[in-house]
Amino acid sequence: MVTPPPVVPLPSSAERSPGAAFRLSDAAALSGDPSAAAALRRILRAVGAPIGHDADGTTGDIDLVVDGSGAPESYRLVADADGVRIAGADAAGLFYGVQTLGQLLTRDDDGAWRIPAVRVGDAPRFAYRGVMLDVARHFHPVATVEAYIDRAAALKFNVLHLHLSDDQGWRLEIPSRPLLTERASGSSVGGDGGGFFTQDDYRRIVAYAAARHMTVVPEIDLPGHTHAVSLAYPELAEQPVLSDHVRDTVRVFGGGLPQHGEPYEGMAVGFSSLRIREEETYAFLEDVLSDVASLTPGPYLHVGGDEALGTSAEDFSYAMARATEIVTGLGKTPVTWHEAGAAPGLAAGTIGQYWGFVTPTDGMDDKTRAFVARGGRVVLSPADAIYLDMKPSEDFPIGLTWARGATSLERAYSWEPAEVVGGVGEENILGVEAPLWTETVRDLADIDALAFPRIAAAAEAAWSPRTGSHPDRTWDSFRDRAAALVPLWRSQGVTTAAAEAGGSR
Ligand code: ACM
Repeated sequence: MVTPPPVVPLPSSAERSPGAAFRLSDAAALSGDPSAAAALRRILRAVGAPIGHDADGTTGDIDLVVDGSGAPESYRLVADADGVRIAGADAAGLFYGVQTLGQLLTRDDDGAWRIPAVRVGDAPRFAYRGVMLDVARHFHPVATVEAYIDRAAALKFNVLHLHLSDDQGWRLEIPSRPLLTERASGSSVGGDGGGFFTQDDYRRIVAYAAARHMTVVPEIDLPGHTHAVSLAYPELAEQPVLSDHVRDTVRVFGGGLPQHGEPYEGMAVGFSSLRIREEETYAFLEDVLSDVASLTPGPYLHVGGDEALGTSAEDFSYAMARATEIVTGLGKTPVTWHEAGAAPGLAAGTIGQYWGFVTPTDGMDDKTRAFVARGGRVVLSPADAIYLDMKPSEDFPIGLTWARGATSLERAYSWEPAEVVGGVGEENILGVEAPLWTETVRDLADIDALAFPRIAAAAEAAWSPRTGSHPDRTWDSFRDRAAALVPLWRSQGVTTAAAEAGGSR
């Protein structure tokens, strides 16, 4: 059997060719697109490989071009002893070809850097390939977000969803409502302090992501997950609803009971709500969402809608209809968690993000189908597969276990997007997103420890051909290909035990 080149996510086609590898040295001339050459040099520098030199106006040994042919984000890569050529359909496709080249690079026992003779033809399965970072439960500064962007872009993700507000803190400066960050950004889970992004910080993140072909999707979670608002605008927030779940969570994890207008540093969910029948609430949302939209070049604005557990179905529907109407009025496409599918007045075309299990429970599939019935599409984030904050093994020091216990790498890999929600098939799926909630996640080392290597399984679900349609789209092949990437991940600064275990989990 021919071993496939160790590329993750699996390309549409990748074949080893007969003949010798390309030997990379400082004598190698690079030609073509300067930003693709810069992206390649970042990889070469990080792994310690020779970075070559610019070709003098002719076609070099490594030629990186955008040729306009093929599907969006697609590329073709051909390598042999004479050189390497990558042709992208567009700049993103060329960038992804460069990422593949980085994964193909090997250092032989004789110390030489080589790229094996291969032919790769590749295009993404889904247009939306996301990672989500929760900067509300614990704040993560710009440098950490940029590091996570680099890790994700190298796996061909093109969306960074930022969960910017929650019960524990408000993380984005809103010029029209300055009290949000003045009064509600100083706390986090466990009393670890807070923080927020200034408008300039946020613009930097958006620009850094764009340079790596990633779009930022900001989330302001509504109408629940809004306790932080009660610190800044107490008149807009209901009293906390102290359910059995809230009391049980306090018993197990501590953190005390939430109190109106006081910072909340526990891990309970579902107790907070904006005042849904007050018109002032919608003036507030107009202000907040307008300011967020003005920082957002991308098409999507996420307005949450999950776990409004103390809110009546009528009030929840009313709030989500109003919130999604504001978003469409701002020229953006709303995204919500799947619960909002139950709201009859949700704006047409709203994207639904499914966060139930791989086998849906409790009518979550009905709510998800409702988005399709209203002309929207679905982003799949099955929690028992690709919630990266679940523990990878029961004894892992950080992470949670509510999504059917620990999530092994094999479980993160072994699901098929088109088979999760009945009636939501290929054409109804906008994409796949791997969220990382940060109740137990304090810094980049924690992010890496939970994300790697399972983020690679999510990348394959988002990018690669569907399961069963390609001989290497299998757990056995993925395990070997992911394990081969560990040195590259280390060169990116991923130094955790999870990365070192590679594909063995
Ligand atoms: C969620 O995990 N509450 C979307």
